[in-house]
Amino acid sequence: MSNNGNLMDETSHLVLHRTPRSELQKGITVISKAKGAYVFDRAGNRYLDLNAGATRPVHVGYGREEIAQAVYDQCCELSYYTPCMFANEPAIKLAELLSEIAPPPIDRFTFECDGSEAVESAMKLAKHHHYYNGNKGRYKIISRVGAYHGVNGIGVRALGVVLPMRQMMEPIAPGGVFAQSPYCYRCPYNLSYPNCDIACARAVEKVIEFEDPDLVSAFIGEPIQQGFGAYRPPREYWSIIREVCDKYGILLIIDEVICGFGRTGKMFGIQHFDIKPDLLTMAKGLTSGYVPLGAVGCSNKVIEPIETFMHIHTYGNHPVSCAAGIKNLQILKEEKLVENSEKMGAYFLEKLQEFTSHPTVGEVRGTGLWLAVDFTTDKKTRAPFPAERLNNIITRARRKGLLTRFMGPALEFAPPLIIQKDEIDEAVRILNESISEEEKDMGL
Ligand SMILES: Cc1ncc(COP(=O)(O)O)c(C=O)c1O
Repeated sequence: MSNNGNLMDETSHLVLHRTPRSELQKGITVISKAKGAYVFDRAGNRYLDLNAGATRPVHVGYGREEIAQAVYDQCCELSYYTPCMFANEPAIKLAELLSEIAPPPIDRFTFECDGSEAVESAMKLAKHHHYYNGNKGRYKIISRVGAYHGVNGIGVRALGVVLPMRQMMEPIAPGGVFAQSPYCYRCPYNLSYPNCDIACARAVEKVIEFEDPDLVSAFIGEPIQQGFGAYRPPREYWSIIREVCDKYGILLIIDEVICGFGRTGKMFGIQHFDIKPDLLTMAKGLTSGYVPLGAVGCSNKVIEPIETFMHIHTYGNHPVSCAAGIKNLQILKEEKLVENSEKMGAYFLEKLQEFTSHPTVGEVRGTGLWLAVDFTTDKKTRAPFPAERLNNIITRARRKGLLTRFMGPALEFAPPLIIQKDEIDEAVRILNESISEEEKDMGL
């Protein structure tokens, strides 16, 4: 591969995550600059970033000097001190701020480096809780087919089958158990809402009984799930799960790594549903990606029996990351970005609804600024759309200055929460053109 200096050179020593060799051979774009909702490559091409950094953390947009200043100030004041036996002011303050906005009864927090570590720590906290309550045998975690909860040790057990990542790491630590995901558009039980009686939620009790309730530690799920493209479960779903967890003494971990901090138009995704979680995992929008930070929140009921949390990460409760988190939360509040997510999300969804007239668009959905267009080759059978075709649409959009991605059979959108109407109009125009061009290529 030779290139004009704008792409990553084939002799680069950098190993990329989840990048097929074929992409490396084509040449990898180097992103060198970003401002607001736009990123720029080394050649100076500008792209509207419809997935906030592709992994979706950049809630407050790029180029925030206030966050850079907060990081700088904290580096000068106290760059690091251990998370064990000592505390630091930014971590105390950030925990206090989170306690003010987290859904009750979540009240106590610890900080990690990212979402995977947050998930890992939440699972460990659940195990500690049961252990100190005399239930030493509870180790199983129930997750959902199609779930994604990160890439670390015990957290990897909760990876559903939507990605081949779990299979690559097998054999993995025992204790991962799966229930079906709510995905009404292609219901795993072939039923239709509301006549289904929320079969996907009711089946969880059978899974628990089969696995032995005395061995089950926790149920983990995203309030709105990324797996099939921003899928929001029926409104009854989470209260059924909450009830069954209570019945068997199982803790409920709500994974807010994507949904948290306004992505879905409320501060936390679970606030769309009237239930109380036991543990909450957070990352991404907590610092908008300026520095790595993850967090776990839990209720007093979860933490109180725990004598010592047997856990150390060198960079736990990191003062610099927490300082960035504090400034990021201030920006979210002062600029009313959660409200903007709700408002712009509704506008974006209304515009995307027009896409249902495309012969390949099966369903359009969205909650706040987390939206998806689910494609099909047959609107009656809802047969999934070939991944190469979705990739073609993404490539077409990219040539027109728009970066987006797919998730399962859907195009998924999660722009920075600062996005405005004119930028959404630009995105809709480019997407519409790109879909039409691909459909023409398919002879439709
Ligand atoms: C729901 C969810 N949980 C956990 C993770 C893992 O977070 P990280 O990539 O920061 O380790 C992710 C990452 O995308 C996620 O989407």
